[in-house]
Amino acid sequence: MCGIVGYIGHREAYPVILKGLQRLEYRGYDSAGIALYDGNEIILSKTKGKVADLESKVSNLPSFSGNLGIGHTRWATHGVPNDENSHPHFSNSGDLVIIHNGIIENYSALKKELIKRGYTFSSDTDTEVLINLIEDIQKNSNLKLGKAVQVALNQVVGAYAIAVFDVKKPNEIVVARLGSPLAIGVGENEFFIASDASPFIEYTNNAVYLEDEEMAVVRLKKPIKIRKIKDDSLVSPYIQELKINLEQIEKGGYDHFMLKEIFEQPHAIKDTYRGRLLIDEGIIKMAGIEDNMGKFLNANRIIIVACGTSWHAGLVAEYIIEDLVRVPVEVEYASEFRYRNPVINDKDIVIAISQSGETADTLAAIKLAKEKGAFVFGVCNVVGSTISRETHAGAYTHAGPEIGVASTKAFTTQITVLTLIALRLAKAKGTMSSTDFRRHLVELETIPEKVEEVLKSDALSKEIASIYKDAKNFLYLGRGFNFPVALEGALKLKEISYIHAEGYPAAEMKHGPIALIDENMPIAVIATKYGHYEKVVSNIQEIKSRKGKIIAVVTKGDEQVRDLADHVIEVPETLELLSPLLTTIPLQLLSYHIAVMLGRNVDQPRNLAKSVTVE
Ligand code: AGP
Ligand code: GLU
Repeated sequence: MCGIVGYIGHREAYPVILKGLQRLEYRGYDSAGIALYDGNEIILSKTKGKVADLESKVSNLPSFSGNLGIGHTRWATHGVPNDENSHPHFSNSGDLVIIHNGIIENYSALKKELIKRGYTFSSDTDTEVLINLIEDIQKNSNLKLGKAVQVALNQVVGAYAIAVFDVKKPNEIVVARLGSPLAIGVGENEFFIASDASPFIEYTNNAVYLEDEEMAVVRLKKPIKIRKIKDDSLVSPYIQELKINLEQIEKGGYDHFMLKEIFEQPHAIKDTYRGRLLIDEGIIKMAGIEDNMGKFLNANRIIIVACGTSWHAGLVAEYIIEDLVRVPVEVEYASEFRYRNPVINDKDIVIAISQSGETADTLAAIKLAKEKGAFVFGVCNVVGSTISRETHAGAYTHAGPEIGVASTKAFTTQITVLTLIALRLAKAKGTMSSTDFRRHLVELETIPEKVEEVLKSDALSKEIASIYKDAKNFLYLGRGFNFPVALEGALKLKEISYIHAEGYPAAEMKHGPIALIDENMPIAVIATKYGHYEKVVSNIQEIKSRKGKIIAVVTKGDEQVRDLADHVIEVPETLELLSPLLTTIPLQLLSYHIAVMLGRNVDQPRNLAKSVTVE
């Protein structure tokens, strides 16, 4: 998510930082800002919008210069994107200044405590809480900046990459990381700080990558000092020589954003349930649901509106919510819903799902639902997006920016949020026993590591892709919770490889599509070991009898389907309703590799836009 850049040395910091922020634009963001030490005081310029907006704001200043500075592109998590919430943030005294990527989960408790001690806040961010916590510690215990940062971070729950400096000690920058990346570029009498090496690659090839739970004091004319935040032990810095080019760095070493985003899913899912799935307490906490629990419990039905991949996530949610919460759910294409005069009233809840939060059809559906008196709940990825503002309440997916036009991590994180909602409502409604509830929580927490395991099948997906890349058509079949995964698998292939593909409920095959099957038809079947397993096995037999080529996604250890299918990709065992989070991964990888082999523009496929803001 978003980016940080810092500089200390003999150069003018502003152009280095500005260019660095431009290099990090690919990560997605909504505001930008820079703070410099001008030899006397800290000067600041920040704004909602793009780095170009920041540049024009700075161009109106009489001067903006110094050899020490920090800059930030913000991807809002706490507080809408506006000038005030943009980073850098000052402490109350104005002495300390911070940039931060990530989320401070316990910011609200810390903020209350600081307010009691007389601190005031000018933004809604969690970041401003952190810088004041550091100041409070520094003042009360008379600590050096590095120590105060360390003590503060030990009180913080969450994820961060931070850079902080103090006007009283303008020869050092303190940095730390947990969960968000942070690299230090080591030059001759100068240091660069950045989320990845792209902002400093032209100045130095030497970089130190901080590991999670490490912090460093970067001081002029001194070697970098790295410590473990928890136990204070010293770590000797490992200076790496970078041999990669700019574009490779931006994509994190992956060839395409889509592949990067596929591989980010374990992390993204964890970020989605972070602070919401509280295993030790055995609860799920989601402010948007808690605040409106009465409405959810009294609802006659839930209507989900969305488009494309988000609509598929809605279909998975229909199965999950009906199963766990026992409330009727309907899933509608937003584009149809908005024009078909739907029956809807104030006892209905409408859930609008959208990665971008800008999809015109979904927005129009929301407007209609509101006019008819429904309570509208948003599930968006982009904080402060139009849909997140137009809905009565909502929950963000916190997947981080998705750049590839084909949605991947947005899909799995949408399912994760919707599963959390279903579980929370089931608990409140009493439609689930405590033991069962807990079992689901424990299992959901293991999903990221299981996704990690599925990602190991990448080479196998690539091999299968090489066999079928020239096929003219594909079928995707699944049942139950995995029927929407079949639809999503087909959409992914169509979008990026331009091969025609159809998704069907496996049992529908015999009602028509079976006529298409011959020895040239590859068919991806999700055949995991759940309720309908034997039925799906029969469907596979039917395909085999007609010489179709079977690519099966199966539960680890499955022998029966292995004997029938041409190829099997295994996924670990999990609860049936969580299985879409695993089964969808091999299908993403399969389409990706086919598209690459066909020489397609994977990240920007023809005719498609990332957010569809027209009808
Ligand atoms: C997904 O791969 C597609 N690019 C597309 O179907 C997308 O899901 C759809 O346009 C909805 O977008 P949204 O989630 O931003 O509203
Ligand atoms: N949580 C911080 C905010 O909302 C930082 C977000 C980011 O990573 O840019 O401002």
